[in-house]
Amino acid sequence: MSAPNIETIVSLSKRRGFVFPASEIYGGLGSSWDYGPLGVELANNIKKSWWNWLVYERDDIEGLDSSIIQNRLVWKYSGHEQTFHDPLVDCRTCKERFRLDKLQDVQCGKHPSVHAGDDKECSLTEAREFNLMFRTTLGAISSDDDPSALAYLRPETAQGIFINFANVLNTSRRKLPFGVAQIGKAFRNEVTPGNFIFRTREFEQMEMEYFCRAEDAPKLHQEWIDGFQDWIGSLGVSTANLKLYEQGPDELAHYAQRTVDILYRYFPEREDEDKQWDELMGIANRTDYDLRVHSKKPEDAEGKRINPDSTDDLSYFDTATNERFYPYVIEPAIGVNRTLLAVMMDAYTERTNEKGETRVILKLTPGMAPIKVAVLPLAKNKPEIVELARKIKKNLQPSMRTVYDDTGGIGKLYARQDEIGTPFCVTVDHESLEDNAVTVRDRDTWEQERVGISQLSEYLSNKITK
Ligand code: GAP
Repeated sequence: MSAPNIETIVSLSKRRGFVFPASEIYGGLGSSWDYGPLGVELANNIKKSWWNWLVYERDDIEGLDSSIIQNRLVWKYSGHEQTFHDPLVDCRTCKERFRLDKLQDVQCGKHPSVHAGDDKECSLTEAREFNLMFRTTLGAISSDDDPSALAYLRPETAQGIFINFANVLNTSRRKLPFGVAQIGKAFRNEVTPGNFIFRTREFEQMEMEYFCRAEDAPKLHQEWIDGFQDWIGSLGVSTANLKLYEQGPDELAHYAQRTVDILYRYFPEREDEDKQWDELMGIANRTDYDLRVHSKKPEDAEGKRINPDSTDDLSYFDTATNERFYPYVIEPAIGVNRTLLAVMMDAYTERTNEKGETRVILKLTPGMAPIKVAVLPLAKNKPEIVELARKIKKNLQPSMRTVYDDTGGIGKLYARQDEIGTPFCVTVDHESLEDNAVTVRDRDTWEQERVGISQLSEYLSNKITK
């Protein structure tokens, strides 16, 4: 089972502290979201898993953390100033603004039951290009219209990696193929943000640029497509809710030779199967475009330099073949927020007990669960039991995220932990004082096992790393 729709996750997130509407006490700010105590843990678990898998478990990838605000020239030469546009139309009737290529996915502001543009009354303006980069000005004395002070919030983390290619290469003494991984915020002034955290103006990306020789790029590209499907599966997302989409020639970004998207079934409630899917991530073969355009030396067909502003040449010298060239790059790019949404939707389950009550169980993998263990005293008015429960919590905490909770009856406490995805509850009862053992309850089977307190940490660690 998975969530029937995104709204179910919006409500669970608010109720339990995963994600809150941003600026809520001032009426909110359209499509901005804050991550609460559980959401930040889940997002951190996703980022840790990605970083461990790429940077620690492999031998060919380095990490990087580049600036959100870069020299404006980065965005001039990357092509973003010229081409990072969406076609925008206004509706003269409902006064809403839409992305021309997404009209089928959004509702008309005046008639919410119809798609924008469908209604006979909708009168759309001609499409205009709208640049998605957020503008800002640098310095205390600059004015908003001073072009020399203009800067952008990065719309992707990738460019920070390309402009540091020589720095990383020289300091890490890498040879091709190798990759550089980065996690960080990106900003896009989306025309139609929406669907909860699926499309927002501020979001977080996990991008890896894998540099290689041109002739190796197609094979490596396929390996990363396969590898990322496995990694997403390792987060607990079922393969039945994932599918690949090969971008057609008219959809490819200006820099890409081939791009394959991994789609997730974010909209299972839609009747039309084709419309149930949307992009979780993209894996692109960006060719040597980026290193070339940021380099000082490349020349166009007339022999003129195309980048007179860069001070460096981002080419690679292969000592084995004595060749100098611009490496190709394979780019798997995935959003933290869209991954979090897919992980939560896929983990969502409902279970009805013998009394006919339906409970929500978030079947997150132990690795993803924000809280791994909840220690619950069965008699909170008995000081020895409370003391023992608190001691057990303290002992487990350095190795696994553990909470202590005595704010309700045991049924209510179990239900709360099930709903937030805690895989194990440990109950401390009167008998624990005699036999030095506790009851461990499994979230998914609701089975209970008696475990000695001295073996508890090892017992839980073994289950949590599985
Ligand atoms: N460097 C390539 C790049 O940025 P992209 O497909 O535009 O490619 C990569 O973005 C990923 O970032 C997307 O697959 C998605 O997961 C996430 N993403 C992009 N725009 C987003 C937005 N407005 N809100 C949330 N996530 C977004």
